[in-house]
This record gives sequence, C-alpha cells and structure tokens, in this order.
Amino acid sequence: MKAFISPKKIYHGEGSINVLETILKERNAQNIFLLTDPILRELNVIEPIIEIIHRLELKVQISTDVVPEPSLSVGNRIVEKVRDQNPDLVIGVGGGSAIDLAKAAAVLAENEGKVEDYLNLTGTKTFQTKGLPKVLIPTTAGTGAEVTDIAVFSLEETKDVITHEYLLADYAIVDPVLTYTLPPKVTAASGVDAFTHAIEAYTSVNATALTDTLAVEAMDRIASNIRTAVWNGSDKKARGEMALGSLMAGMSFYNAGVAGVHGLAYPLGGLFKLPHGESNAVLLPYVYDHIWPSCIDKMNHVAKILRIPLGGKSDRNIAIDVVRSLQTLVKDVGLPTTIKEYNIKQNDIETLTENGIKQTRLLNRSPKKLTKKDIREIYQNCYDGKLKSIE
Ligand SMILES: [Fe+2]
Repeated sequence: MKAFISPKKIYHGEGSINVLETILKERNAQNIFLLTDPILRELNVIEPIIEIIHRLELKVQISTDVVPEPSLSVGNRIVEKVRDQNPDLVIGVGGGSAIDLAKAAAVLAENEGKVEDYLNLTGTKTFQTKGLPKVLIPTTAGTGAEVTDIAVFSLEETKDVITHEYLLADYAIVDPVLTYTLPPKVTAASGVDAFTHAIEAYTSVNATALTDTLAVEAMDRIASNIRTAVWNGSDKKARGEMALGSLMAGMSFYNAGVAGVHGLAYPLGGLFKLPHGESNAVLLPYVYDHIWPSCIDKMNHVAKILRIPLGGKSDRNIAIDVVRSLQTLVKDVGLPTTIKEYNIKQNDIETLTENGIKQTRLLNRSPKKLTKKDIREIYQNCYDGKLKSIE
C-alpha cells in the first residue's frame, strides 16, 4: 500500500507570500540562492520576495538561468552555481521549469555527480543526502511542480525526469497574486495543463479516494474559472480559484500519477519544443476520445463537473460530450487543437509513436493499455483534428 505524500507545509491564498518572512526566520536562513525566470525579474513579479529578503538583510544570489523545457546542461550549470555559493536555503520562483530546476539543484548541490546521473531512465546514482531546504513558489496555475518530487529535463528527442522524495518542497507557497500579470496564452496553457493533471489523476489506475477528492475539486475549480482567467486576467476570484485548483491537481497527480496525455506529450516537447502545457492541451481530447470506454463511470462524473446535461443519455453519448467539451475548452482559451498547427508533418507521426511508446512510467497508469497501434492512431487523429467517437 502506498502512502499519500505531500510537502510538509503548504501555504495558499491571497497574500500568503508574506509567510516567507516567518519561514526565513524560522530556518535562520542567512545565505539564499533564489532561482527564477528572467522575465519574472523584468516584470517585477518577484519584487515582494526580494523585499522580504532585503528587509531581513540576508545575503542573496538571484539567478535567472531558467529557460523553458530545460536541458541537462542548463540543470548542471545551476547545480554548479549553487555548489559555488554554498547557500543555506534555495528558493525557486516561477513556472514549472524554474521550480523543477530549483528542487533538483537544491538536492544535487549536496550530492555527487551531475543531473544525468540521477535520471529515471538512464541514471546510475542514487541520492545519499536530502540536500538543501527549499521553498517553492509558483507564479503560474499551473504545473503543480511545487507539490511534486519530479524535475523534468529535455533530452534530444524526448524528456526524462529525476524523481525522488528528497526533491519535495519543505515549504510550498501558492499565492494567486503572483499570477495576476500572467499573459493569456500562459494562463491558458498552464491552466489546461493543471486540468489535465486532475483528469489524468482521476482516471489513473493508481487513483485513491484521497486523490479523487482532490482531482474532482481541482477539475471543478479549473473548468469553471479558466475562461475568465484567460479572458480577464485581473479577475481576482478566477485567479484565486485557478491557483487553488492547480495546487489540488498537483497534490492529486503526484500521488495517483498522470498517464497517456502526458506520456504522449513528452515527445512533442522533446522533438518539436512545444511548451509543456500546450503539448498536453493539444492531445487531451484525442487521448480521452480513445480511452473513455475504459473509464466510463469516471467520465460520467467528469460530465457532471463540466455541467453537461446527462438526462437520458447513454454512457457512450455522455463520454462523447465530455470529449467534445474538452476540445471546446482548449479552443475557447485560444490554443491549437491539432499538431498540424505546430508545423508537425505527417511523416513525423512514426517518430512520435516510437518515442511515445517508451514513456512506460506514464503509460502504465492509463486505464486503457495503450499499444503502439493506439498511440499511432492518437497522434494521427491529433494531426487530422478527428475525434473518432464522433465522426
Ligand atoms: Fe503537466
């Protein structure tokens, strides 16, 4: 039996960033490594965090080495910086990449070797010590990275992860105020990513009553607020609900796992550099179009969450309405609904399939076992924009 795991301390809600002052005092932190996205520094999103650090007169190195979908060399460069500085605490602020890099660097800095030594598929080393304490602060809603122990790295053709309990945050702070200036496209992509975490956790073969409760709450909050958050970013209620929904989705998928959508999205990111959220969004309807017969009861419940009228409809028609509604959601928030729109060609489908089938860690949680033939068909339908249950 597997335990339900989450970071020790999670703070959330408007203004929760102020708790950072208490945390830094509590840890008696004197020397801080703060890792963030360059754009967040430019837009002053991290200002409230820097203000707290300055007020406490602490030594700080601010690194803006974060890039989207980071490679091993980006990870190793940051690890070296942390080792050189030898701080007593690491703060990661930003989207999934910033947070993943911060948690990996905090642990690796105090262990031997490089990022590649600890990768899930090809690594040969295991961590000997827990590493530096870390505070993880998301500025998107989101990746859920602040509550997971996974750090994703881009390889040449696909992605791989470091995953270990040591990577879990000592403190996660989810303050929606930090998402108020997020542009519509990032709000859309990270929001659909969060919804995907929730629905994949909900239909995962590893789902439990605890992960289901979080997933249902997350889907409800995200589906009811994502459009407003994208169309009117200054709507505080929508931003607050999205932040909370994303946090719940993160806690749920960290324990139940994500599956086919994320598994098949990895090669889109690896081979064609699609941003993580967009690669999930484009696949979401097509994967559920393919797997719904294996999770009928849960599809019925998702339909209720999506406010789809059920009256007298067959299970099949309810599931089809869910799939259609997922595609409408992706369209409504302004994201592409076919991989063709990303300039992916028909003859790329085979390479995608070859790479997709390798993502066994993720595919194993799918309620329907996905064969190579299934995977090829999903990519093909996602290329053609064809929902097979409908046409
Ligand atoms: Fe994701």
